[in-house]
Amino acid sequence: MKKYSVPEISEGVYWVGVKDWNRTMFDALIPLPQGTTYNAYLVKGKEKTVLIDTVNPGFEKELGEKIGQVIDLADLDYIVMNHAEPDHAGTIPYIIKVSKEASLITTEKGAKMAKIYYNVPEKRIKTVKDGDIIELGGKTLKFIEAPWLHWPETMFTYLVDNKILFSCDFFGSHTAFGLYDEDVEELIPLAKRYFGEIMMPFKNMGKKALEKVKELEIEIIAPSHGPVHKNPERILEAYRTWTAGETREKVIIVYVSMWNSTQAMIKTMVETLLSEGIEVSLYNLPTADIGDIARDLVDSRAIVLGTPTVLAGMHPLAIYASYLVKALRPPLKYGAVLSSYGWGGGAPRQALEILGPTKIEVVGTLEINGPPSADDHQKVIEIGKQLSNKIKEMGNAADRTVKRF
Ligand code: FEO
Repeated sequence: MKKYSVPEISEGVYWVGVKDWNRTMFDALIPLPQGTTYNAYLVKGKEKTVLIDTVNPGFEKELGEKIGQVIDLADLDYIVMNHAEPDHAGTIPYIIKVSKEASLITTEKGAKMAKIYYNVPEKRIKTVKDGDIIELGGKTLKFIEAPWLHWPETMFTYLVDNKILFSCDFFGSHTAFGLYDEDVEELIPLAKRYFGEIMMPFKNMGKKALEKVKELEIEIIAPSHGPVHKNPERILEAYRTWTAGETREKVIIVYVSMWNSTQAMIKTMVETLLSEGIEVSLYNLPTADIGDIARDLVDSRAIVLGTPTVLAGMHPLAIYASYLVKALRPPLKYGAVLSSYGWGGGAPRQALEILGPTKIEVVGTLEINGPPSADDHQKVIEIGKQLSNKIKEMGNAADRTVKRF
């Protein structure tokens, strides 16, 4: 029996990636409740063999041994670097050292990064452009530039004969479970969370990439994180919706409360929105998982931010959440801010400063001193109704056609 499972996902195409069950954070920012995978694929033609992407540093030996179950690693001809980020390219120095003849194939921008990050000698790098191909003997690889998915140098690789699109980060999900899409029960919510965290800021580039691959016959999408898509249409359709910024009649509420005054206003807001038929996703920031928030930002039409004033500004958790909303560039259209202060206000002013440069239209702001009075609750109800009306005005007919992903 061989040491590792190296499944042949299609004729002559082997999964040689690794599962990182124990990783809990990505970029020191994103929680990984299910760990993640670094997928790498070995494609064996009649004459040449190519490794598509590598894995995170620390897994060199495992990657090398998995490749070694299929070919002698020293005989590898090419390494395709679809993306230079270390989770996929970090073991290139090891592969380059062991496979003495292998050339690194990447875009022009990728070539610069390969030299800076991984000290790959210039003579070992082969630069490719959109539409370039290489022949492996009975198999052809075609390269498709797909910049900003997720760095400027990124590209996809298409294996013409097997109809496989190797898309690196695009179409990925952070989970160490399963090999194929059918193995992961909650795949679309996981993929949506990943999209919100990684791809949402680049959704226009994602839309362009989807246009580019539209004409390709795709039987398998093989990303570099998470399961391989044997049913590519499911994830393609989800990505069409997400990259188009299609929103639902849905509000995401993120709040923090110190003495329950802000929370009491948020509760009234939730009840108002629900009674207006609006979907609500509610997050109490001290315990919220920001990956879940990113997932719900993908298709929310409005946001309500609740924060007390702390030392003349927002609570630090609310500052963090607002900054994240600004950075992730979700398709939010409307917003509202609810705030309570003890002895001096200022939180809403700061919220508007942070969210001001976004395209979010702030429909209402309420700042109160201490716990909300009956009159204050009424004001929250009015803001909630205004928000609901704005949300519903926005093309309900179109919304009915939006599939829920
Ligand atoms: Fe999975 Fe952008 O690296």
